[in-house]
Amino acid sequence: MTQPTSPPPIPLVDLHWQYAQVAEAVAARWQRILSTCDFILGQEVAQFEEAFSAFTGVPHCVAVANGTDALELLLRAHQVGSSDEVIVPANSFIATALAVERTGATLRLVDCTADQLIDPAAVRAAIGPRTVAIIPVHLYGQHADMAALRALADPAGLLLIEDAAQAQGARQAGRHAGADGGGAATSFYPGKNLGALGDAGAVLTADAEVAERIRGLRNYGSVEKYVHRSRGFNSRLDTIQAAVLLAKLERLTAWNSRRHALAHRYQAALADTPGLTLPRTLPGNDHVWHLYVVHVEQRDRVLDRLRAAGVGAGIHYPIPIHRQGAFDHLGLPDGSFPNAEWSAQRCLSLPIYPGMTEEQQDRVVAALVAALVT
Ligand SMILES: Cc1ncc(COP(=O)(O)O)c(C=O)c1O
Repeated sequence: MTQPTSPPPIPLVDLHWQYAQVAEAVAARWQRILSTCDFILGQEVAQFEEAFSAFTGVPHCVAVANGTDALELLLRAHQVGSSDEVIVPANSFIATALAVERTGATLRLVDCTADQLIDPAAVRAAIGPRTVAIIPVHLYGQHADMAALRALADPAGLLLIEDAAQAQGARQAGRHAGADGGGAATSFYPGKNLGALGDAGAVLTADAEVAERIRGLRNYGSVEKYVHRSRGFNSRLDTIQAAVLLAKLERLTAWNSRRHALAHRYQAALADTPGLTLPRTLPGNDHVWHLYVVHVEQRDRVLDRLRAAGVGAGIHYPIPIHRQGAFDHLGLPDGSFPNAEWSAQRCLSLPIYPGMTEEQQDRVVAALVAALVT
């Protein structure tokens, strides 16, 4: 008698599917690059910068090596440095905080709201005489409350630097990150909504001077070969990564729409499930669902059960920034940021990616409902 076979596992994100969609277009572009050996800051980099700028409606895009560099270089282009303080949410990926400390500025962490986005009330309380910038993180694919933050930043002359690493294509009041204020940094890490085949990132800004400074900073402080006006870095984008991003950008809107449809299916299917807190979209936001994150008690037990059922769930993120060993020097004990800590203990990311089928999603829902039964 043949054993019944269990269905294949469902990954948290399926990059194989995504790559297959663009493989031909990427191969054609790579062929050109291989034939010209134009490997660093080649013509595809400029083409991608132009295309991403047109896609977002933000006048300038400067491609760099990764999202952490994009944040750091954007802060440096605004001359943020060691005499300054920068406000960052405690529940983000650690890179947001690292980028601030890399400039020499002091990191000032604050709590999030129940929607996991930076809390404007906490920001208001944290603004001090040395504060020069606030970094809202558009976590999981939707914008933080930019109107509330702008109302705090503008009268005090503070910069708003958006961390849009998880929000390619997301908008608030119809505007993409970086269109207003101090600019935005994004990451094209492979698992992002728009991901390269390696590390990549970009800065978006409406300020031509800031864009020009970043063009220098990413290339050893030089915009003219062997002439170095500032002490810069090596943070250039490889031409082959730009070619991948160009091919994928053509599909980003369709892929984000598919994520949106899947998120709505989750919301409908899980709406009446006891013990689950579902994600909420803030008014005015076009959410691009980089992650679909629910909150649940006894999360680790639920996660183990999901994994045993072949569902690749994840945790974003298990330890808030102030409780990471890397930030012990801040001296922030447990209890410092109750909402960030509440979320870290309960958050659970369910699989969501454009190639996901409804049948796969139904299996995730069934596995989750079963995993919640005590
Ligand atoms: C919110 C956030 N900020 C910054 C980064 C850093 O980007 P990268 O890994 O490209 O340096 C990431 C991604 O990994 C992120 O999710």
